[in-house]
Amino acid sequence: MKTILTSSVAKASEIILKNNLAAFPTETVYGLGANAYSSAAVKKIFIAKGRPSDNPLIVHIGDIGQLPSVISKIPLFAEKLIAEYFPGPLTLVLPKNKNISSLVTAGLQTVGVRIPNHNIAQKFLKECGVPVAAPSANISGKPSPTTWQAVQQDLNGKISCILKGNPSRVGVESTVVDCTGKTPVILRAGGVTLEQLREIIPSTRLSRLTANGKVKSPGMKYRHYSPLANVVVVGGVKETVPLKSSAYIGMEKTKENGFGVKRICRTKEEYAQALFHFFRECDAKKIETIYCEQVSEEGIGLALMDRIRKASL
Ligand code: TXA
Ligand code: MG
Repeated sequence: MKTILTSSVAKASEIILKNNLAAFPTETVYGLGANAYSSAAVKKIFIAKGRPSDNPLIVHIGDIGQLPSVISKIPLFAEKLIAEYFPGPLTLVLPKNKNISSLVTAGLQTVGVRIPNHNIAQKFLKECGVPVAAPSANISGKPSPTTWQAVQQDLNGKISCILKGNPSRVGVESTVVDCTGKTPVILRAGGVTLEQLREIIPSTRLSRLTANGKVKSPGMKYRHYSPLANVVVVGGVKETVPLKSSAYIGMEKTKENGFGVKRICRTKEEYAQALFHFFRECDAKKIETIYCEQVSEEGIGLALMDRIRKASL
């Protein structure tokens, strides 16, 4: 299959409406989209990514008006989260609308829904008109793509189209929040922080399984975000072995020049934005060991350390 590279929202949405796959940019990571009403289209996502079919997909919409086409019920606390954080890097798990393909939800009666805070994504999703199911646009298990080039690297020849945009601003995926109980439960840490959610709903908690890094939402039992290199979490540069075959990413400034690749980040936000791209750069340079500096798990640090820990397993 030839994969078209395009900057045309109209062309990419046409492909979705023909029940083929189009990757598109969002503020978190690039998504691999398919018409969420079509089981035939959604099936192609699982094939292209090599994704286990028991791992449900997030449904994306361009504006709030499309919500009723995806979900069937909404508790008051979820309405409050929507009012504050949609559009944004937040996915809410709610009872699904019956028109959403059960392949999207892996047979669950709930569906994850999100509106990306991204100009091109919103234009594309509005033009599609139908809700768009989209996991991250990488081969299953690989680091999520934060550039269109990374999508191309993983999926060229396997999908119909890549809608080009800038590198993703957030760099880690959305926060997945279960809204089917009495109070919000974070299934996956992400771009909207625990602290931000608690500002609106103070009782928001981490799924017990999120807190200790084990199985939570169905997808979380799989190996994730893994570069070919071995990822090692370190307290600082003094715990590393600087070699041409090793790499360092973190916030501690260091003059050490022995690493094959080095990236010093000024903030945790910058660290999160850079991480997946750094993993891919290290693989391209045949790095064997990637040292990632540990950071405190406040703010975006919670999602960042979750991704680093999963990559290090
Ligand atoms: O930022 C993001 O969320 C990106 C962009 C493209 O929007 N998407 C993304 O999708 O990261 P994916 O498929 O790589 O991760 C979706 C996560 C998985 O852990 C999945 O198990 C969980 O969301 N999920 C989806 N629907 C769910 C549901 N109904 N119940 C529980 N977890 C769900
Ligand atoms: Mg993913």
